[in-house]
Amino acid sequence: MQKIALTPQDHVFVLTGAGISAESGIPTFRGVNGLWEKYRIEELASPHAFDRDPALVWRFYSWRRSVAKSCCPNAAHVALAGFQKRLGERFFICTQNVDSLHEQAGATQVVHMHGKLFESRCERRNCNTASFADGTEYPGDKLPQCECGGRIRPNICWFGETPHHMDTVMAALARCSVFVSIGTSGVVEPAASFVAFAQQGKSKPVRTIYVGPEEPANVHMFTDFLKGKATEVVPRLLGSWK
Ligand code: OAD
Repeated sequence: MQKIALTPQDHVFVLTGAGISAESGIPTFRGVNGLWEKYRIEELASPHAFDRDPALVWRFYSWRRSVAKSCCPNAAHVALAGFQKRLGERFFICTQNVDSLHEQAGATQVVHMHGKLFESRCERRNCNTASFADGTEYPGDKLPQCECGGRIRPNICWFGETPHHMDTVMAALARCSVFVSIGTSGVVEPAASFVAFAQQGKSKPVRTIYVGPEEPANVHMFTDFLKGKATEVVPRLLGSWK
């Protein structure tokens, strides 16, 4: 692996995608055995899908909850959590993943832009009830309801909805001098454009690094492509930044 230097002034922005959790046993979305090979996105991950068949949507997310419960963080999650402890405020992590493997590895203040698998909320935006921790698996017939009468749904950002915490993410992108993206195919917006946003309006060039076994769709926007599995490349990369 080529040497990539990190200085004490650098601010590091890390973006993770499904690939970082693949070696923990959580299926990715695209590619061989990807989730969207077996299911149609429109039938499962959109407000329209929930209106049409909430039981089907809840079965899907209940299954994903059961899979995630049996998975453990891997060496890449652990390396990132350790790196965060070393860098403190100079480290920012945003994930598109809804699992909690970064937190299970010890990371804190992880920004989940696509929501959290183990949280639910009322579907009514004007309901005062906050999102809440929920690992329940709903088999289909009896679906959860809010006290206000609205339906309870997974606290996930579905297709057609606005990703969560975007102000915080954009501020961190404006601050960063190094951008590292791990295990994401680079096709889903706005995350696919973060690598471009990280470079915009900066007086010094920003190092932008992609880690994964294959080129993402936006590979041309990166200064470095570190080919390999997250568990192999991430600990080595972060270990070289001692
Ligand atoms: P994808 O499934 O699109 O891409 C997974 C990426 O991980 C691919 O580029 C693989 O090459 C890579 N990969 C596979 N194994 C890996 C490993 N061991 N180490 C590192 N990389 C590996 O997943 P995302 O790009 O994260 O959104 O998907 C983005 C969003 O699309 C998801 O958050 C989800 C989905 O639809 C919503 O549900 C809103």
